[in-house]
Amino acid sequence: MPGLCVIGLQWGDEAKGKLVDWLAEGRDLIVRYQGGANAGHTVVVGDEVYKLHLIPSGIVNPGILNLITAGVVIHPKTLLGEIDSLLERGVDISDRLLLSGRAHCVMPWHIIEDKIWNQVNSGDDNIGTTLRGIGPCYRDKVGRSFAIRMSDLIQPDLEQQIRRITEYKIQSLAPFCENGQVDLDASQIVEEYSHYAKRLQPFIADTTRLLLDAVDQDKAILFEGAQGSLLDVDFGTYPFVTSSNSSGVGVSSGAGVPGKWIGKTIGVAKSYSTRVGGGPFPTELHDETGEHIRIKGNEFGTTTGRPRRCGWFDAVAVRYTCRLSGADTICLTMLDVLSELSKIDVCVAYELDGKRIEFFPENVANLRRVTPIYETLPGWQQDITSCRKREDLPPNARAYAARLSELCGRPIEFISVGPDREQTIVLNPDESLLDSLVS
Ligand code: GDP
Ligand code: IMO
Ligand code: MG
Repeated sequence: MPGLCVIGLQWGDEAKGKLVDWLAEGRDLIVRYQGGANAGHTVVVGDEVYKLHLIPSGIVNPGILNLITAGVVIHPKTLLGEIDSLLERGVDISDRLLLSGRAHCVMPWHIIEDKIWNQVNSGDDNIGTTLRGIGPCYRDKVGRSFAIRMSDLIQPDLEQQIRRITEYKIQSLAPFCENGQVDLDASQIVEEYSHYAKRLQPFIADTTRLLLDAVDQDKAILFEGAQGSLLDVDFGTYPFVTSSNSSGVGVSSGAGVPGKWIGKTIGVAKSYSTRVGGGPFPTELHDETGEHIRIKGNEFGTTTGRPRRCGWFDAVAVRYTCRLSGADTICLTMLDVLSELSKIDVCVAYELDGKRIEFFPENVANLRRVTPIYETLPGWQQDITSCRKREDLPPNARAYAARLSELCGRPIEFISVGPDREQTIVLNPDESLLDSLVS
């Protein structure tokens, strides 16, 4: 069975976790294939709220195998914290979670480096990372000389490797630390990581082979993207991006499966836009509407708790990411957050140097200079959180969704009207959304 992918179409936090959990039933495998503990995916099942950073969002569903593959950078402490918290809550993960021996380990020096580098640029140039050591770990992965992978954790020379790298990191980081004191102690790191190795050993496996076998056996595989397409290191708003390919183009390399085995991609987009951290955001709202969306949508980072920047839906950006990520359909989330607004703006094009442009600029310097061209749609003053089918939605909410679909050039297959599994409307993607909505 060709693989199914869930990919964020904006700057992350589009509610990928909710959709993955919703789609997990009946699947054999759920795969996290890039990013690390910078991600924060929320799954809500009744009164239970699960915040997952590394473990795939399918874990709450019984009987499904969850894989963390080579493209992910794993912070063992965070992962063990997640495992323990799931166990405490009665979610049995034994035999249901496997980690690739090829995945890289986030080490204590990566967290220090992330902090140092994040301070290098200030103001508009500050990336505002999650400080989870993601960029430095990927840098060491590509650099090769100072990297530790999950399979290295269980090798006899782990202590030697840690001592070698710690020595180098202390030397290279000293000029950037107060009084030249780098807060790294090789013996302590050896002890800490040996403990992690012991605990994680049962989970470490050759997930590459396992996944290729699963493909040969026609298993149902769901790939869970982290971050969003606009944070992709190559195709996002560089340098205000994360350090992995977080758009649809990263599935194949991060998971280790040929692209031709990816059957369908569902792009997840909020009904408005948000962004955490720095970087250009053409439709950002600095007024009370932005504040209203932030409060109503509870737009505070799942990982860092930072307030998310909020703005109108940017159809120029999402049209681009639908194409880049190969989205076949869209899951439109948080539509309930826009209820109460009397009017809703949608960015349909940009103005750059006096000209109307319909494409997403390649360079952030240009993206910073664009002025959004808005189309205004009427709002709906009705609570929609209990809507369960298309017909339950107020006509203006349906018309809004239909217009977004038209602007992005993709059918909408799901509309989410609340965090719970139940608060999901399924639409028939074969029907023309616009026709079916206005009929
Ligand atoms: P992810 O990183 O893409 O998985 O998204 P996050 O979990 O970081 O952020 C999405 C937040 O919105 C979570 O708190 C979800 O529980 C919540 N959520 C998901 N779908 C909806 C929705 O349709 N409406 C509202 N109001 N909240 C939602
Ligand atoms: P999920 O999977 C939203 C952002 C950070 C920062 C930039 C680089 O929950 O959607 P990093 O720590 O990755 O080097 O930070 O990327 N960022 C996210 N924003 N959701 C995420 O993940 C993010 N992961 C990273 O805020 O701007
Ligand atoms: Mg998130």
